Amino acid sequence: MAYDLLKGKKGIIFGALDNSSIAWKVAEKAHAEGAQFTLSNAPIAMRMGEINKLGEQCGAEIIPADATSLEDLEELLNKSMEALGGKIDFVLHSIGMSPNVRKKKDYGELNYDWFLKTLDVSALSFHKVMQTAEKLDALNEWGSILALSYIAAQRTFPDYSDMAQAKAVLESIARSYGQRLGKTKKVRVNTISQSPTMTTAGSGVPGFDLFFKYGNDMSPLGNADAESCADYCVAMFSDLTKMVTMQNLMHDGGFSTSGITPEILEQLDKS
Ligand SMILES: NC(=O)c1ccc[n+]([C@@H]2O[C@H](COP(=O)([O-])OP(=O)(O)OC[C@H]3O[C@@H](n4cnc5c(N)ncnc54)[C@H](O)[C@@H]3O)[C@@H](O)[C@H]2O)c1
Repeated sequence: MAYDLLKGKKGIIFGALDNSSIAWKVAEKAHAEGAQFTLSNAPIAMRMGEINKLGEQCGAEIIPADATSLEDLEELLNKSMEALGGKIDFVLHSIGMSPNVRKKKDYGELNYDWFLKTLDVSALSFHKVMQTAEKLDALNEWGSILALSYIAAQRTFPDYSDMAQAKAVLESIARSYGQRLGKTKKVRVNTISQSPTMTTAGSGVPGFDLFFKYGNDMSPLGNADAESCADYCVAMFSDLTKMVTMQNLMHDGGFSTSGITPEILEQLDKS
């Protein structure tokens, strides 16, 4: 069901790789709620061509940008304002990548050049998007900027590796830039900390299936799926959440405040 929650709003959605991507679901829901937006992803991700289908479906122009490149981001913001006929009301940063995780490096054997790449792609890119938008005066007042995070920013999970540090930085950037943009533009900046979700980035983490099952059994509502995450993102872009800023918002079915659940106790009892 749609409610026209984003009617008249213009946005940029980063990170739709294929139809399992969280950003893909956000684009579909934002379109259904009346938003106009451009879609962006790294030039290398465009090769798969999947994003073209989403662009057609949502009437969205696709503008490639490496989110670590200030030059690319400037071009993306300028082209987006041109395509949408005005400044931007919402941005979704749905970007994450760790070469150390991809190449299954042990946490005691990290490659530090790759670590820096992880931080640049998965965290600093969020700052770069906002800094570029601010410089170009590309944001409308009462806009909403979101990035997707994971609870490994606060708690340790094996194999999430340097992505845990990247998410901690990402959430900190949301607070610092949220303070700044709140004052200058009445723009809110938040992160949504999402349950394990079956996507390309998610299933790239070693042992993801067990991670997923544990999350599900530790959450009274079960893991939040990509569709419900997209609903939450839409709510955060809408005028119904105007005063929510500088928050890390848990979207996890209750995982983060569960000590232990009957399901886990039952499994321990069996072992
Ligand atoms: N899947 C999960 O379990 C889970 C849980 C919590 C948070 N998240 C976060 O959600 C976000 C989206 O991930 P997803 O699970 O939908 O997976 P995904 O693989 O579909 O999306 C990750 C995206 O990042 C893009 N990307 C990588 N490097 C880039 C660059 N240099 N410039 C621009 N884009 C780049 C990829 O092309 C891809 O589209 C990520 O921040 C991820 O960490 C995912």
